[in-house]
This record gives sequence, C-alpha cells and structure tokens, in this order.
Amino acid sequence: MHARSDDFPLAETDLVLRLRTAGCVFAEDEARLLRQTARDTAELDAMAARRIAGHPLEHVLGWAWFAGLRVAVEPGVFVPRRRTEFLVRCAADAAPTATPPLVVDLCCGTGAVGAAVLAALSDRGELHAADIDPAAVRCARRNLARAGGHVHQGDLFAALPPALRGRVHVLTANVPYVPTGEIPLLPPEARDHEPRPALDGGPDGLALLRRVAADAAAWLAPGGALLTETGTRQAEPAARLLAAAGLTPTVAEDPDLHATVLTARRP
Ligand SMILES: C[S@@+](CC[C@H](N)C(=O)[O-])C[C@H]1O[C@@H](n2cnc3c(N)ncnc32)[C@H](O)[C@@H]1O
Repeated sequence: MHARSDDFPLAETDLVLRLRTAGCVFAEDEARLLRQTARDTAELDAMAARRIAGHPLEHVLGWAWFAGLRVAVEPGVFVPRRRTEFLVRCAADAAPTATPPLVVDLCCGTGAVGAAVLAALSDRGELHAADIDPAAVRCARRNLARAGGHVHQGDLFAALPPALRGRVHVLTANVPYVPTGEIPLLPPEARDHEPRPALDGGPDGLALLRRVAADAAAWLAPGGALLTETGTRQAEPAARLLAAAGLTPTVAEDPDLHATVLTARRP
C-alpha cells in the first residue's frame, strides 16, 4: 500500500525548494506527485534525487496522465506528450461507426496513443501496436493488457501480422519527426533521457513518415486513414509526400495544444 502524502510532512518545504533550485518550474505540483507516488521516505529521497539530476518527471514517477488514462512510462521510453492527445481525437473521429474498427498504432512507444484511441471508441474494435525498441514494446504490453491490445516488435509494418494487410481502418503513427540538426536544441530531459531513435526524424524530420507513407495504402482498408503528428513547418511537405503515396491528406491544428495532425485517407 502507498503511504499517504501527509505521512512525511516535514519533507515538503525542503522538497519544493530543492526542486525549484534544480529548475523545476512546477515545483509544488511535482513535489505533490512525488510524495503521492513514493511508498516511504527512502523512495521519496531517491525519486527526488533522480528528478533533481534531470530525469523526466514521468520516468521518475513511472507513469503519466495521457488523454485521461494513467499510462506506465518506463525509463528509456518516450514520454507521451499532451499535444498528442489531438492525434487521439482525430483518430477516434476517423474511425468507422458501422463496423468495429481495426486500429494499428505504429511507433507506439508506451502504447499511450493506441490505448487512448481504443478508450475513446469505448473499447469497440481490435488494436495492434508495434515498436522497434524492446523497452517500448515491454512498456506497451503493460499498458495495453487491460484493453486486450496486441503488441509486436519490429521495423514499422514488418512487425505486423500479414493478415492485417488491406484491413486497417485507423493507422496512427506518431513517428519521430525532429530534424537531426535540431536535436541539440531539445530540452536536456528529452535529449539526454529519451532514446535518439524516438526523436530523430532524419535531415528534414520526415524520413520515417516517408517510409510509413510508402506502405500505408497497402495496409489500409479502402476509406481507412493514416494519422500522424508533425511540426507546423513540416505540415505542407508531409501532405505532399502523403499525396504522392496515393492518399488524400487533410491538415488539422489545435492551437491550444500546439499540435498539427495530418489525416490521410486511402481513396
Ligand atoms: C515520437 S515516439 C512516439 C511514441 C508514442 N507513439 C507516443 O506518441 O507517445 C516514436 C517511437 O517510434 C519508435 N521507432 C523509431 N523508429 C522505428 C521503426 N523503424 N520502427 C518502429 N518503431 C520505431 C521509437 O522507438 C519510439 O518509441
């Protein structure tokens, strides 16, 4: 059983101060989450030390809120971002209503996107998720067990059971899209604690999307949709490459979340 946060009240002020001094902008909130998650003072101290050393809060806690779900986040796995909740909304909107959707989440990381899409569809449908990184696959298996999602390991579509080919209604792919030259500009939390292949999208940030687009039409059902997040500046070139792959792309933005999502339908 977890200790209640007021079991170690003396640590509170000190903890907030230590977090603030280390540069944590939301020190009070972080201190509260650390105290709620730690089971005793020794664990709280260890967690605080990792956070102060610059580890992402979600890696220290071992979980993150994403689209209303508490998602397990293991060290070395990409932390799901708030803005990606827009991708989830667009994906749920793109799902067919007349038939139970077959949902595939490529580059799944923790599995947060697939889990949230399935939850938004009231668990109606079948979910397959895949990632090349064994740590991500392990984490996604934990997160998708409740929903009965299948998690596969491998390079993009090569990870998927061949029987899914031509049948996918909703294909989410939050591929890495940071241009290689911009990786040094990322906050140290991402740069130092998230794996490079989870971030690096090649010279223009679109290398992985290009590969996904090349095979997407063969895996989508007629009328099925590929959904992907990009940077604002990448939206136009991304739309062009999706159109060149035989899909019909539309661009949507959520200014509050600073999120850009392309939905590309197979005609
Ligand atoms: C930007 S993260 C997104 C993770 C998750 N979908 C999310 O939104 O939180 C990109 C993910 O793509 C995975 N990845 C990178 N290259 C891949 C490849 N060739 N095949 C499959 N997955 C890949 C990384 O391991 C990482 O988990």
